[in-house]
Amino acid sequence: MSLRPAIPLLCPSLLSADFTRLGEELRMIEAAGAQVVHVDVMDGRFVPNITIGLPVVESLRKATALPLDCHLMILEPLRYAADFVKAGADWVSIHQEADPHLHRTLDAIRKAGGKAGVVLNPSTPVDTLVDLVGDFDFVLLMSVNPGFGGQSFIPRVLDKVKRLDALRTDRGIPFFIEVDGGVGMKNAADLIRAGADALVAGNAFFKAVEPKAAASALLSEMARGRTA
Ligand code: DX5
Ligand code: ZN
Repeated sequence: MSLRPAIPLLCPSLLSADFTRLGEELRMIEAAGAQVVHVDVMDGRFVPNITIGLPVVESLRKATALPLDCHLMILEPLRYAADFVKAGADWVSIHQEADPHLHRTLDAIRKAGGKAGVVLNPSTPVDTLVDLVGDFDFVLLMSVNPGFGGQSFIPRVLDKVKRLDALRTDRGIPFFIEVDGGVGMKNAADLIRAGADALVAGNAFFKAVEPKAAASALLSEMARGRTA
């Protein structure tokens, strides 16, 4: 049994979209062949920015059948995590640094029917997850410090992807690895080759001159990372 999803997944981040026309942006993601919609939820406390909340997720749910991947950059995520599933999120991820009771919050996400993920900031070691393997469905590795789109990729995350992939193999327990921040043509194949399964792309998709062409190019780079 493979421990990885059959094909790598491209997850455009709505943070870089035009918020006045989210419905059209969702149509563009679908038409481009991306498989997942990444939604960045920020509370102005865990990170400096404030973005999207539950009512917007409810509206997105009505407007697309694609999985909604809600990345919660909020303190005390237990207060809201299950509500995001109820609002329509398929995947909900919480930051390791924001929650002293990760096990409880992951359980709440799963009990509500969602896939539960843990997010690690660039400075948080992969080792912090060794006693949680089996309790999450995915890990989101930040390759920028969270808070804003359009930042530069931190290359050391490649080594974290490799170590996480080794942990997965060592335990024989499936979970998928997602990478978020500064992802683009320069690093997509390398990330997949290192063991990543899902890549978030904000600016690389929405700020491209031709987002559809950018998605096709990224998807072929990702496929190349699986074969090379
Ligand atoms: C950053 C967010 C990212 C961001 C990625 O805090 O978590 O999802 O939207 O944007 P790019 O791909 O432009 O770095
Ligand atoms: Zn994100």
